[in-house]
Amino acid sequence: MSTYLFQLSDLHIREPGRKAYGRLDTAPYLSRAIDTMLRCPQSPSALVITGDLCDFGREDEYRHLRALLAPLSCPIYLMPGNHDCLLNLRRVFPDHPYLGLSGPAHFSVQLDDLQLVALDSTVAGQSYGAIDAQGLAWLEETLKNCSDRPVVLAMHHPPFLTQIGHMDEIGLLLGRIELTQLLRQFSNIERIICGHLHRAIETRFAGTIASTAPSPAHQVVLDLDPMARSQWNLEPGAFRIHAWNKSAGLVTHTMPVGSYEGPYPFHADGTLID
Ligand SMILES: [Fe+2]
Ligand SMILES: [Fe+2]
Repeated sequence: MSTYLFQLSDLHIREPGRKAYGRLDTAPYLSRAIDTMLRCPQSPSALVITGDLCDFGREDEYRHLRALLAPLSCPIYLMPGNHDCLLNLRRVFPDHPYLGLSGPAHFSVQLDDLQLVALDSTVAGQSYGAIDAQGLAWLEETLKNCSDRPVVLAMHHPPFLTQIGHMDEIGLLLGRIELTQLLRQFSNIERIICGHLHRAIETRFAGTIASTAPSPAHQVVLDLDPMARSQWNLEPGAFRIHAWNKSAGLVTHTMPVGSYEGPYPFHADGTLID
C-alpha cells in the first residue's frame, strides 16, 4: 500500500482582491498549485500545509483560503505559521477538530502506515519560532505512542540553520537543542518537514532528514551572504509529495506548479513514440 502525503507551505492568502506586500495576489498561485495537484497521476492521501496559510491572520483571509481549497477532496491538515492567527483559523475551520480549541495546535494523525505529527512552533505576535517545555513533553509522549511506525514530523519553523541569515534570525530560536536531544531518542522519524523559508532546503538533523518546502507563490531569494537583505522573487512555485510504501520507504519529490511541454514517451533507443 502506498501513501502520498502532499505538502504545501506559505500560501500567504489575503482577502479577495488584496495583494501581499501590496504587489502579489497569492490566491491564483494557490489555485494553480491545486490544479497541478489534481493533474498528478497519484491522488493525495492527505495534504498538510505547513503554516503561513494567510498573510495577516484575518477571518476574511481564512474564509478566502477555505474557498480556494474547496476543489480538493482529500483530508487537509492546516498548521499555523508566524503570519497566522490561531483564534481566527479555528473560528473559520471549526470542522478541523485536530486544531483543538485552545493552546498550541499540536496534533498527531495516522495516515495509513504513516504517522503525521504536527508541532506548533509559533509564538503569538512574533516572527521567530519556539518549542517550550510543554511542547517538548507533548512531543515525547506522542512519539512514544507511535514508535512502531514511520513518523513525519511537521513544523512551520525549521529547527536547523539555513545559512540564509535574515531567515535564521527569525527561525526556531528557542528549544532547538532540547528538540534535538529528544528526537535523537527515536529512530522512526523519517522526515522533519517545515515551511517558513519559501525554498526547498534539506539537511541532516538529529539523525534524520529535515527540509523546508517552497511556496506556491513567492520564494525567498537565495543569497547565503550573512548580510543579505530580505527579498522575495517569483521563481517557479512548487509543492512536495512525500511518498511512502514499505519497500521503498519514504521518498520525497518536488513538483513545480504549472503546465509544461510534454510528456514525450520514448523508446529504449531514444526515439520518440508517435
Ligand atoms: Fe511564509
Ligand atoms: Fe513563516
